[in-house]
Amino acid sequence: MGFPKLPLLGLFLLLAILNSPASADGPICPQTETLSRASFPKGFLFGTASAAFQVEGAVEEACRGPSVWDIYCRKYAFRCSGDNGDVATDFYHRYKEDIKLMKNLNSDAFRLSISWSRIFPHGRKEKGVSKAGVQFYHDLIDELIKNDLTPLVTVFHWDTPSDLEDEYGGFLSQNIVKDFMEYAEFVFNEYGDKVKNWVTFNEPWVFSRAGYDEGKKAPGRCSKYQNEFCDDGRSGYEAYLVSHNLLISHAEAVYIFRNKCEKCKGGKIGIAHSPAWFEPHDFNDAQDGASIERSLDFMMGWHLDTTMFGDYPQRMKDVVGHRLPRFSREQMAKLKNSADFVGINYYSSRFSNYVEKPDPSKPSWMQDALTTWEEKNVFGVSIGSKPTTGALEVYSRGLRKLLKYIKDKYNNPEIVITENGYGEHLEDKDSVELGTKDYNRRIYLMRHLLSLHEAICEDGVNVTSYFHWALTDNFEWQNGYKHRFGLYYIDYKNNLTRHEKESAKYYKHFLSQGTPPSKIKKDEL
Ligand code: BGC
Repeated sequence: MGFPKLPLLGLFLLLAILNSPASADGPICPQTETLSRASFPKGFLFGTASAAFQVEGAVEEACRGPSVWDIYCRKYAFRCSGDNGDVATDFYHRYKEDIKLMKNLNSDAFRLSISWSRIFPHGRKEKGVSKAGVQFYHDLIDELIKNDLTPLVTVFHWDTPSDLEDEYGGFLSQNIVKDFMEYAEFVFNEYGDKVKNWVTFNEPWVFSRAGYDEGKKAPGRCSKYQNEFCDDGRSGYEAYLVSHNLLISHAEAVYIFRNKCEKCKGGKIGIAHSPAWFEPHDFNDAQDGASIERSLDFMMGWHLDTTMFGDYPQRMKDVVGHRLPRFSREQMAKLKNSADFVGINYYSSRFSNYVEKPDPSKPSWMQDALTTWEEKNVFGVSIGSKPTTGALEVYSRGLRKLLKYIKDKYNNPEIVITENGYGEHLEDKDSVELGTKDYNRRIYLMRHLLSLHEAICEDGVNVTSYFHWALTDNFEWQNGYKHRFGLYYIDYKNNLTRHEKESAKYYKHFLSQGTPPSKIKKDEL
């Protein structure tokens, strides 16, 4: 990310090169005694992240229409842990207070998403535009800029307008392409002069697989053999269709961004992918080694190969066959090189194990990958470590390995860490006191920043910014408010007051003086 491209004269060009965080030989890393922001290349941005439905609340204010998540959590409260996004952290009203928290951290950037149905309450412009909704994002973006915080804006973070879902099945239909194009063009033209960094889609893999193959997330579709709570859906089919329509929508939106939006000149645009890293389940089994490539192809290449090289990975085409839709030549041409940077949301890693005998009567995305993902390897050793209250295994080495893999496979692209964070569920022990003593998150953050530094400064990976998920605790989809990811604790029982956690104190310290690397233990928790 870093600096926008400007039409420059020779002198400016020279200055830009000298200031650039990366050179032909790789990023330039200052030698420092502590691990702090000063150890990273000049111009590197550190921020925090959020998504509209997880924080805004105010779901009925200023004519906002419902999204699939509003409907899903109201209809199947138990599938959202009994919670919903009606109030969330009330960011809609309290964003100025939260911007002060970002300033308190000394951070430089903030990732937000726009709620489609807050702009077009019924999904389409002809059915009405909410002026107040449009104004809300202007005010928020202006306030960020006034506070020297660079905005990174996600156009779509899973909240399809409910009217489009009802009308034609949302992303299951190719009708979504023109409606997404209209919405994306509208927000580019509205905010493109202020926002120079954009993400079209957040985590297509999670959106398609969890929403249309496992039925874990809205709209909660799948075959019964995958999840007994699914009323409708078809695992092993729909997810591929949804991603196909999503990828075409992405390519069209990027085409508009690059060719039809004057205000967007000098901006950058990409997708936020969500790969794990994989180690072999059994080091002595070559089949397990080979399954790693398949896991990465299915989890990341599905959408990354497509936007880099113009088509799905060959391994996917071979296994999924006729269930994987095909792109036309024109679509492939638009998809190829349709991202200026690779967005990566990294949380955890897994051991990859191969599946010898798939059951063709129960197709699913996971089975197509011919792998299973294990927390322990064949010797019973865990990947990284998992504190009892932790949501996922902590394996910071996986971040470095993943980044190197992307550098080598995709021709050294610019990479933005669009998310990285630690989730915990404190259950009946949940309290301000315990929640703010989040020493595990503090260690998680420390180790991942070190691993990121190694990837950049030792492996020469061109990463230009890092966004921690999340600024505050928030609505964690199917886990409701029970899983906390924030650097700041939200007291849901007491007027949503914000409390600084130990992890926030560490991030703040890292963004000023920093810690000697020798004090950061490299082994996992
Ligand atoms: C998503 C976020 C989510 C986070 C933690 C990512 O999958 O983009 O919306 O809250 O991970 O689960």
